[in-house]
Parts: sequence; C-alpha cells; structure tokens
Amino acid sequence: MDHLVSPSLLAADFGNLQKEVLMLNKSQADWIHLDIMDGLFVPNISFGFPVMEFVKKASEKPLDVHLMIVDPDRFISRFHEAGASVLTVQYEACTHLHRTVTEIRRLGMKAGVALNPHTPVSLLQNILPFIDMVLIMTVNPGFGGQSFIMESYGKITELRKMIDSGAFNVLIEVDGGIDTKNAARLTAAGVNVLVAGNSVFRAPDPTDIIRKLKSLEI
Ligand code: DX5
Ligand code: ZN
Repeated sequence: MDHLVSPSLLAADFGNLQKEVLMLNKSQADWIHLDIMDGLFVPNISFGFPVMEFVKKASEKPLDVHLMIVDPDRFISRFHEAGASVLTVQYEACTHLHRTVTEIRRLGMKAGVALNPHTPVSLLQNILPFIDMVLIMTVNPGFGGQSFIMESYGKITELRKMIDSGAFNVLIEVDGGIDTKNAARLTAAGVNVLVAGNSVFRAPDPTDIIRKLKSLEI
C-alpha cells in the first residue's frame, strides 16, 4: 500500500485552528494526528476533549489519536465519542494491554500501540494478532520539534520482519522528528504512516510539505 501522512496538530497555530484544519482538509494529508498528554505519563500537557471535538467537526479526515496518558482505559469510550478513528495507547502505560486494545476495537476504532524509544519491539510479539498499528516513537514523547533518534531504523526493520513473517495486518507509524529528508528512508524500511508536526506546520507552505511527504520528493 501507499504510505499515509498524518500531520500532528501539536505544532499548529491554535489561534487559527479552524484555518489549520481547513488547510489539512484541502491537502493530501490522510489522517490528522492528535497528541493527548496528561502531565503524568509525559512531562507536558497538551489539549483535551473540547479541542478534539472542534477538530472533529471541522475535519474531513480521520482522527489519529495518540494517548500519552496513564491508565488510558478510563477514557477509551470518551475518545470514541469524541470522534477518534485510530486510538493509540502507550505500551508503557498499560498493565492489561490485551484488554485495552480489545476494548478499542470493540468500539469500532483501529487499535494502536506506541513504543517509547527504550522499549524493544520484541515485546509486541504476542499482541500483534490483536492490533491494527504500532507507533514507533522516534523521539521521547512529550514535545514536538525534537531530533529524530537514528537508532529507530533498527527497530523499524525488526518490526517489519515480525509483521511480515506472521502475515499480520498491522501498520507501522513513526512519530517525532519526521521531515522530507528522512521520509523516503523510513518508508523504504517499511513504515506505513508518517506523523509530522513541526516540519509541516512551521514551514512557509505546509500544504507543499505534505505533498512532498506523500510523493517522497525531496
Ligand atoms: C511527541 C508527539 C508528536 C509530535 C511530533 O510527543 O507524539 O506527535 O507532535 O512533532 P514533530 O514532528 O515536530 O517532532
Ligand atoms: Zn504523537
């Protein structure tokens, strides 16, 4: 399949959120990535349901929601009601991950599992049959605008082999420090979904960067 592009709203201008979402609607973006941070799992707080519900109303694209929160089970149905199509939880925040992803799917959303940079992909072996996506964090979660961790390529290659050898229907998403310079190498390594925050929203022409991330033109 062709890879997908999921611009991360965290880097958007929140004073002009409507304009930013309309720009994404007109662009080649496939999904809109929403980062939910609770100040506990990560040392930052982003935004919550009122913002997400507004984005849902304005957006024509599926919402790709990345929960960086402890005990995400408390809020799965709220995120479903608020319009999430893809709901990703952090591996490190879930004691009963199978229960969590089963509930996400039961509500009709795609279930994703995100790994911090230190968490090995081998830990996913027994959950791959039950999920739709793995998000490999290519920076430490909590902030936009950080540098891509080069060692992530090894994790992507290893995960791609695990998925292919088991013929699992699981997408690989990467998040953190993604730009037009590393996008082609990432998709060649087997990535299916590129999340990009600062490289899109801080560019003079965000629509053109999204086009380049789709076409892999540098
Ligand atoms: C970081 C978030 C990312 C962030 C990426 O914790 O999960 O989605 O918005 O931002 P950039 O692309 O600027 O690294
Ligand atoms: Zn994210």
